[in-house]
Amino acid sequence: MNQSSPTKANGHISAAEKPVAVPLLDLRRQYKTMRDEVLAAIARVCDSQGFILGPEVETLEREIAGFTGAAAAVGCASGTEALWLALVAAGVKPGDSVITTAFSFFASASAIVRAGATPILLDVDPGTLNLDAALVERRMREHRAGTHPAGKTRAILPVHLYGQCADMDAFQRIAEEFKVAIVEDAAQAIGAAWRGRGAGSLGATAAFSFYPTKNLSAYGDAGIVTTPHPEMAEHMRRLRNHGSPRRYYHDEFGWNGRMDAIQAAVLRVKLPHIASWNEARCLHAATYDRLLADAGLTARASHAPVRPLARAAQAKHVFHQYVIRAQRRDELRKFLTERKIGTEVYYPLPIHLQPAFAYLGLKAGDLPVAELAAQEVLALPMFPELTEAEMGWVVESIAEFYT
Ligand SMILES: Cc1ncc(COP(=O)(O)O)c(C=O)c1O
Repeated sequence: MNQSSPTKANGHISAAEKPVAVPLLDLRRQYKTMRDEVLAAIARVCDSQGFILGPEVETLEREIAGFTGAAAAVGCASGTEALWLALVAAGVKPGDSVITTAFSFFASASAIVRAGATPILLDVDPGTLNLDAALVERRMREHRAGTHPAGKTRAILPVHLYGQCADMDAFQRIAEEFKVAIVEDAAQAIGAAWRGRGAGSLGATAAFSFYPTKNLSAYGDAGIVTTPHPEMAEHMRRLRNHGSPRRYYHDEFGWNGRMDAIQAAVLRVKLPHIASWNEARCLHAATYDRLLADAGLTARASHAPVRPLARAAQAKHVFHQYVIRAQRRDELRKFLTERKIGTEVYYPLPIHLQPAFAYLGLKAGDLPVAELAAQEVLALPMFPELTEAEMGWVVESIAEFYT
């Protein structure tokens, strides 16, 4: 990994070190370091001619269970599929409702619909942008008092946004008091932890995505569900295979949500590296923090042109994304794009304002923290092989934009 320091001339990166472009994510750098191993793993599957589930998937399931600290893991076709399995196994039924965040990828809420339930979309904490536990607690009390009779609230689905766990102390307390399940959306958070306990071992079930941009990524779509409950794992094994306990016998309606053996084989090559990759991401985040502060961009807190998100002391963040809140975000993004610096907006439209969810009856202004975040957030380049010179150029460019 290239961690070379940028040479500075008058506090700036020298012309010789100016990168031509800085991608948001460059998977080719990772591939170069493990090409032979990955191709050998794919060849192993081709030689076996066993392409769906089978020993590669079973071994990956054991390895991921061990890595996350969960009792069992169930490999499946995508993170979206993992969310659906996690919800159904946790007991969510048609007519129920599930509380989740309005500031996440669409699948966090659409999986609830797919399980036949109604999402209750709530606002987020202004510091971390994770689901606001105080609002969840208030909503649960209102449900108990009968003010919001939106079906039986069966589960809370916190999303560990950008790789940082949501406030699991609060959610575990609320889940206990109101007898609801916690279903973690850990799609962005493999290797993250809360008070030393791994994401994926903090609720009844948890969904991970191995989409190619994720910290641990497949060569196509794949996902996995973890759970401390062996009986839920068995249920999910049936559900991912048409609700079938044995070939051509079906006890309930499942779906084809199985994992490919090639994806499992690739993921098994990568899994031993995830801790060091996550560590590199944390170091990069610290570097961005320092460079932004040195450039005077994050000083004077609320008036600063750029504000990093808050970090919870109990959370081990894995920086799936390094996200800033930026004044004149769209202009800044255009300026950086012209310099071939990759950025992304996760997410430009909160879930409650997506046309597909118009039927929930929420409108602009209802969830103001999420709505403001959608206008301000900007993800900067972040991947383990990113160099300090590249980060230096990103921050120097941001500084130029604001001067
Ligand atoms: C928070 C979150 N939930 C769910 C998903 C869905 O995962 P997948 O794309 O693997 O279906 C994603 C992936 O982008 C995600 O970021």
